Amino acid sequence: MSDATPESGAGGAPAWLDWICAAPDRVELTRRYDHWAARYDGDVAADWDGIPQWAAGLLGRLLGSRDAPVLDAGAGTGLAGVGLAAAGFRNLIALDLSPGMLALAADRGVYRELRVGAIAEPGVLGAEERFAGIIATGVFAAGHCGSAELTCLAGHLAPGGVLVLTAREAVLAALTTTLAGLDGEILDRLESRVYGDQPIHAIAWQAAGGPPRWVPITAREQRSDIPAAAARPTTERWADVRWRGVTMDKGPFELAMLPQLMAEQQIRTVIELGTAHGGAALWYADLLALNGVVGQGDGAPVLTIERDPGSVDPAVRNHPGVRCLTGDCNRLADLLPAALLAELPHPWLVLEDAHDLDLPAALDWLDQHGLRRGDYLIVEDTSIDHIDAWSDWPDQQVLDQVRRKIADLRTWLIEHEARYRIDTWYQDLFGYNASKTWNGVLRVMR
Ligand SMILES: C[S@@+](CC[C@H](N)C(=O)[O-])C[C@H]1O[C@@H](n2cnc3c(N)ncnc32)[C@H](O)[C@@H]1O
Repeated sequence: MSDATPESGAGGAPAWLDWICAAPDRVELTRRYDHWAARYDGDVAADWDGIPQWAAGLLGRLLGSRDAPVLDAGAGTGLAGVGLAAAGFRNLIALDLSPGMLALAADRGVYRELRVGAIAEPGVLGAEERFAGIIATGVFAAGHCGSAELTCLAGHLAPGGVLVLTAREAVLAALTTTLAGLDGEILDRLESRVYGDQPIHAIAWQAAGGPPRWVPITAREQRSDIPAAAARPTTERWADVRWRGVTMDKGPFELAMLPQLMAEQQIRTVIELGTAHGGAALWYADLLALNGVVGQGDGAPVLTIERDPGSVDPAVRNHPGVRCLTGDCNRLADLLPAALLAELPHPWLVLEDAHDLDLPAALDWLDQHGLRRGDYLIVEDTSIDHIDAWSDWPDQQVLDQVRRKIADLRTWLIEHEARYRIDTWYQDLFGYNASKTWNGVLRVMR
C-alpha cells in the first residue's frame, strides 16, 4: 500500500478521499491518518473546510449549555473543535484513532482532554461516561465508522443529549435506519455540498429523556418568576432606551437575551413587524454585522415594516443593513410576497411587535410562505403583568389589542402545536417567563 496521498481525483472528488476510504482495516486506517496528519488541513481545505464548522454550528443551535461535556468523536486535527469553541463550548473532549491527527488537534488549544482510541473499543469511553453533546464529522464514511460506532455513541449521550454527525449519500440510509432503532429522535437535518457538488447531510439526533427544551404552549403557565411589581419600573422609561440614539421598545431581559439568541442560532435574516422609531431595527442590523451577516442595497438582512412612515428615524432608512417597508402588517402578502420571502437566507428571526394586526393571518402567511425548521418567531409583549401595570395607558385600545393578541397567539399555537414550540432555553434565561414576552419565544420545529 502506497503511503503517498494522490494529488487529485476524477469526477470532482479529491483523490485522497478514495485513498482514505479504501483502508481495509482499522490498523491501516490509523496508519494512513498518522501518515497524512501533517498535510491533512491543507489537502482538505478546498473541499472539506467549513463542513465541520457547519456541523458544530448545528450542535450549538440545539444544545443550550456551553459548559456541559461535548465529545468530538473522530476529532482528527480538530476542525469541528474550532467550530465548537467559536460557538462557546468550553468542555471539549477529542477522541481519535490516530495519535498523529490528535497531536495537531492538541495544538488548537480548544480541547480540555485528548484521548487516543477507537470509538467502540472497550474501555475507551467509560461505561458510565455520558456527554451532553457529541459531534462526529467525516467519521461515518466508507472504511471508517458504521452502525456499531453510531449505537455506541448514542449510548454515551446523557438523557436529552444531542449527537450531530455528517454523512454523505452513500451511508445516509444505513445510519438513519440505525438511529430509527434507538431511543431518541432526529431533531434537525441540514444539507450542503462537498467534493464537486455531492450532497452532504448533517443530522442532529436527540437521546430520549431529560427535561424538554422546546415545549408546547399547553405545557406552559401564564405567569412569570419576576414579581408583577417589577413590570412597570423595568419598562417605565421605554422611550429612553435607545440604540444609536434612536428609541427602541425593549426591556432589560430582551436586551440581554436577543444578542445571544441571534449569535447562537446563527440568524441571517430579521423580519420585524412594527418598526416604530426603529432603534431595534438598527440594533438587529448591528448585531447581525457583529456575527458576520451584512447586506447591501436590496439584500439588507433586516426587513422592518411600519404603517406610519413618519415615526421612523432617518438613521434607520440610511442604515445599509435595514430595509424599511411601509405598509399595514395586515397586508403581508403585499409587503412580504412569497417571491421575496423565498430569497431571504435562513435561519430567520421574525419579531411581531405591531400589536394592531390580525395575528393569526400574519402568522399563517409566514408559516405557509417561508418559516422553516430552525427559524425563530417572537411575539412580543405578551405578559399579563405588563398589561396590568400599564392599565393607565391613555390609549385603552392598545391594551385591548394586546389582550386579544395573547389569546390569539395561544389559539394559534395550539393549532400548530407540533411545529411551533416555546424555546425555554431563551424564554426562561432569567427565570420562568422573565421578560415582557411570556411564552412568545418560539422555534420552528419541523
Ligand atoms: C475525515 S477525518 C475527520 C476529522 C475531523 N472530524 C474533520 O471533520 O476534519 C476522520 C477521523 O476519524 C478518525 N476515526 C476513524 N474511525 C475511528 C474510530 N472508529 N474511532 C475513533 N476515531 C476514528 C480518523 O482517525 C480521522 O482522524
